Amino acid sequence: MEQKLQGQVAIITGASSGIGAGCAKALAAAGVTVVVNHPVEATKAAAQAVLDEITAGGGKGMIYQCDVSKEDEVQRMFADTVKQYGVLDILINNAGLQRDSPFQEMTLEKWNFVIGVNLTGQFLCAREAIRIFLKQGIIQGRSRAAGKIICMSSVHEMIPWAGHANYAASKGGIMMLMKSIAQEFAPSKIRINAIGPGAIKTPINHSAWETPAAEKILLELIPYNRVGVVEDIGSVAVWLASDESDYITGQTIFVDGGMTLFPGFSTNG
Ligand code: BGC
Repeated sequence: MEQKLQGQVAIITGASSGIGAGCAKALAAAGVTVVVNHPVEATKAAAQAVLDEITAGGGKGMIYQCDVSKEDEVQRMFADTVKQYGVLDILINNAGLQRDSPFQEMTLEKWNFVIGVNLTGQFLCAREAIRIFLKQGIIQGRSRAAGKIICMSSVHEMIPWAGHANYAASKGGIMMLMKSIAQEFAPSKIRINAIGPGAIKTPINHSAWETPAAEKILLELIPYNRVGVVEDIGSVAVWLASDESDYITGQTIFVDGGMTLFPGFSTNG
């Protein structure tokens, strides 16, 4: 594979599984030194396994434990990354989770937990990245931008999702966070975009595709007629971090096999 991002450094939050792990592997294959973030002691082995696969393939990086919803932990992770590698080029603001519930039964704890990780976590990480990018400015020969942030959103930044109000609210919030800071920092040559994945086979939605019967129902929502895989997201993340997309900022790229095309209307309306 062409090493499109040779020598750059990225933090990928929530990289011990799912889309985060897929992005870490894709970036590493493109020449990036990756910080494989994971949240707690219990996720350390999984993060290490991701890093081991990366280093076995000739890639570089380290694992780093940090709960993205905690300000002091986030600040420590960004400071240690710069201490270790001297520079930061890319943030994949990915860490996210679901705690689903019928709305009338949704506890404040479930609401706060999802908003805390998915939205506040992206705020805290983006703020640290921006502070570093502003200080660094454009480094000649590295990238045309002074820094790149890719926020992992979802099709649910635009598709309402009954039974998942906390999650959908967090993704709608990520969209406007992303667009507002893209506007604020475009003059500083910092690009901020989002990826809106549809149904991608990861632990977060395992029940939606684990049996052929479940997968068949899920496919009714996907005109392209296959459930996505993390590699579908990783390749777009690499491109969005590269100079090939230098004129794109403030956009969500949906990577969803057409889930946002209102598939119910193909035979109705
Ligand atoms: C959710 C998945 C879901 C997909 C499509 C994602 O953001 O995390 O659980 O399968 O959206 O609905």
